[in-house]
Amino acid sequence: AVATEYQAETATISNGVVESNHAGFTGTGFVNYDNETGSYVEFTVNAATAGPATLIFRYANGTTANRPLNVTVNGRAAVSGLAFPGTGAWTTWRTATASVTLTAGANKIRGTATTANGGPNLDRLDAETASGEPDTEP
Ligand code: GCU
Repeated sequence: AVATEYQAETATISNGVVESNHAGFTGTGFVNYDNETGSYVEFTVNAATAGPATLIFRYANGTTANRPLNVTVNGRAAVSGLAFPGTGAWTTWRTATASVTLTAGANKIRGTATTANGGPNLDRLDAETASGEPDTEP
């Protein structure tokens, strides 16, 4: 498989802000989802060929409440309520993984908050796609 990293701070953000006040993120920061239902981060993930992919979201959640995201691929429901449980601290980063099917070329991967708490602090998405030519960063 080929894994490509997509930083949340360079994704499309709707009702969230890029911050860098909690250490341990990669890149230049992370996205702090607004505390509301419907806030989202959308990545453009390139796949050399159509087929299964593993999406690995790196996040922190310093609360004790799960902050689920609905994951869509090109506007279609892929994973409903992917769990982002508490990590113990805003500086403790863990991963949540989803299996999806991508189309060849650019895929819009959106993670939308499903509760009034909003999403977790989201650092990055790693997309593992089928073997082939290495995918290019956006
Ligand atoms: C705190 C924390 C933020 C986090 C927020 C939240 O304010 O510093 O990084 O996003 O809580 O609950 O969403």
